[in-house]
Amino acid sequence: MRVTTAREIKNITLIGFMGTGKTTVGRLVAEQLKFEFLDTDALIEERSGKKIADIFAQNGELAFRELEAQLVEELNTRTKTIISTGGGLPTNPANLVSLKKHSLIFCLWLSPEKIFERVKDQSHRPLLHDLDPLGKIRTLLAAREKFYKQADVLLNSDLRSAREVAQQVIAQYHAATKVRK
Ligand code: S3P
Repeated sequence: MRVTTAREIKNITLIGFMGTGKTTVGRLVAEQLKFEFLDTDALIEERSGKKIADIFAQNGELAFRELEAQLVEELNTRTKTIISTGGGLPTNPANLVSLKKHSLIFCLWLSPEKIFERVKDQSHRPLLHDLDPLGKIRTLLAAREKFYKQADVLLNSDLRSAREVAQQVIAQYHAATKVRK
């Protein structure tokens, strides 16, 4: 784990590809630590009054990425919050720089096949509306790997339940914040 002394860890951020369990794990961690749970996609939908798929269709992906970046900037006043992020959010390096100032960042990792298994019956993700969703997952994951690996902690959720992953997050968070006292 890389934690520099210049950081003040007040929050936990979960990053990772679509379908890796960020929302489920994030909610479990929030419940146990008594932190607030915040989901960037849900907040963007609430504020814009539109579903993510409609923002992509009507305004384009770039407009959605702008909304994500604006929201990330606002998060630097947060404390005791579990921030669950959309899968593409870390591909903007400024987002990770900003989040690292106040959060310990965890990346949830799954193989493309496992991701496909989890998302194949869901229809709300515009980037997976593709003739070959597994191929699209492989391509996107390969392109994003370098961003995901900038997390402080990489957790492979393949062989663990959401509850076990949540326990790992909590243990690492306690370890990281204790070192700093
Ligand atoms: C996206 C992931 C989605 C959502 C949008 C784009 C991506 O979030 O932000 O559909 O680029 O990977 P989840 O990771 O919560 O599915």
